[in-house]
Amino acid sequence: MYSAREVETELGDLAPQISDAARETLVRMYSSSALDGTEEKARTIGQEKISILQGSELNRILKDIKAAKTLEIGFAYGFSTIWLLDAVAAHGGTHNAIDPFEKRRWGGVGLYQVNQTTGFDKLFKWHEAFSIHALSDFIRSGDTLDAVFIDGNHRFDDVVVDFYLADQVLRVGGIMAFDDLWMDSVKSVASFVALNRHYELVPQRASTMAAFRKIADDDRLWDHYVPFETTHNDGQGSRVRQLARYLKRRFLG
Ligand SMILES: C[S@@+](CC[C@H](N)C(=O)[O-])C[C@H]1O[C@@H](n2cnc3c(N)ncnc32)[C@H](O)[C@@H]1O
Repeated sequence: MYSAREVETELGDLAPQISDAARETLVRMYSSSALDGTEEKARTIGQEKISILQGSELNRILKDIKAAKTLEIGFAYGFSTIWLLDAVAAHGGTHNAIDPFEKRRWGGVGLYQVNQTTGFDKLFKWHEAFSIHALSDFIRSGDTLDAVFIDGNHRFDDVVVDFYLADQVLRVGGIMAFDDLWMDSVKSVASFVALNRHYELVPQRASTMAAFRKIADDDRLWDHYVPFETTHNDGQGSRVRQLARYLKRRFLG
């Protein structure tokens, strides 16, 4: 647990680009062992959060492309949400979070924190639905997005389906980011995306995340398939580092 002063210092070092409103909320969130929610007072906060480094990198990448319409799968306590909202707020944009369990399992903490951050609630929409349903609604609406952050159910097939559906609403030039790159399921999806789809890896410093830029719409032949990496432990250091090394070697030269 960090003190408010330590969080402020880390935010100052890693994320000088964020607004005062986001900074105030993030200091409170990262330095508290319990946070208020719409459903529960003072709920104990666990590990379900992205790091300050990761949040800052995600925020920076989205600001670089002037992202105005964004989506995340997996809301929980809303740490990533504040980082993403800060990125779109810079352009008066909108951010969506999909999570069927926000109130039932997470006490509405994410919702409460968004509401507590000046100006953010009116840029935000929570979709109380499973990702397959909410993403299908987005596809049907014909709307396009500038960025998607995938951090919902982390099983391989859930992540790959989230990617498959989200890709259909992501514009060319948009960002698709995956949390928890330390998990074999997520690493395998990242390897599939890198080797089979028109996406390029975006250089960034958080080894817990893979961020890709979409470089073209899907135009593969019906039988296209390039084998991808599903085994990541080569015995050389941590598995997160291995995949980061592999992706860098393979796609950034
Ligand atoms: C690791 S937490 C998200 C943490 C959040 N991104 C943050 O940084 O603060 C994962 C979330 O995914 C949600 N989730 C699980 N399965 C889902 C699904 N099928 N569709 C949407 N959300 C799902 C869970 O309720 C949980 O809130």
